[in-house]
Amino acid sequence: MLSPRVAPQMIGLGLLEAIPAQDILALADPDDADGDGISGRAAIVWSLEHDAPMLGRFGHKAGMATIREQSSAAFASDIGISTPLHPDKWGDCTAAQTACREAPGGDDPERGGFEADMAALDLVTFYSRNLGVPARRGADDPQVLEGKRVFYETGCPACHTPKFVTHRLDAQPEQSFQLIWPYSDMLLHDMGEGLADHRPEGRATGREWRTAPLWGIGLTRRVSGHTTFLHDGRARSLLEAILWHGGEAETQRGKVVSMVPADRAALIRYLESL
Ligand code: HEC
Repeated sequence: MLSPRVAPQMIGLGLLEAIPAQDILALADPDDADGDGISGRAAIVWSLEHDAPMLGRFGHKAGMATIREQSSAAFASDIGISTPLHPDKWGDCTAAQTACREAPGGDDPERGGFEADMAALDLVTFYSRNLGVPARRGADDPQVLEGKRVFYETGCPACHTPKFVTHRLDAQPEQSFQLIWPYSDMLLHDMGEGLADHRPEGRATGREWRTAPLWGIGLTRRVSGHTTFLHDGRARSLLEAILWHGGEAETQRGKVVSMVPADRAALIRYLESL
């Protein structure tokens, strides 16, 4: 199965990892018991690092529980570099791909027989964990404040949960006990047929996606040089990204379509301030 992807943003990952799992699980409503049309399922995945089932947080379908595993999986599957967590030097080439499997590797006896050893993974994990979140711009601007009202009244926070407080972590003071504003519940949602890729991952179905965090989204052009959004980059603007929402978010999408143009412009302006 093939499913295109754009790389997700890498800011604030250490803070997302530090959100207490029970606070995320408390938002899940898999059978929509409250009848608001929005369910939200926790992606429980097997953690290679902890050798236990854990809450998946990273990746477009929340398939990875920790930054270290997400990084190691990217080393292995995206660029074919083995690590202690993913020791195959051929990445995710299948047994049928014999030329790939037999090609020379860079496994190094001085690195425990891996291409990237635990020390390398430690450094990459530390780096990824500590990429900061940009400050908001224009938060007091009247149009931004108007857009904030529209964002809340339209019901976007039902999935784009504005804030959390992170765990107390003695070894990581920079992530410890912080009030953070990621605008994501970190849960999986059925986003409808239009966004479905029909490629399940772990417990996530082919129609489910993890709510994308919205912090820093207004700086996408400046940082990444493009404004293509959603898991596969199909949306050319923030408004297009909203218009692709379906499934559990059908109601909110409908409200954006029918709102007066000034409210829609304010909503976009607010997103650009995040
Ligand atoms: C039912 C849950 C849900 C609701 C309600 C919802 N969203 Fe989303 N949103 C998501 C999910 C899941 C994604 C990621 C989808 C994907 O990548 O295909 C997303 C992605 C986005 C993105 C693109 C982010 C990126 O980095 O590509 C924007 C912008 C966005 N939402 C804004 C909004 C706004 C504004 C509202 C309210 C009008 C809203 N959303 C309501 C779940 C929701």
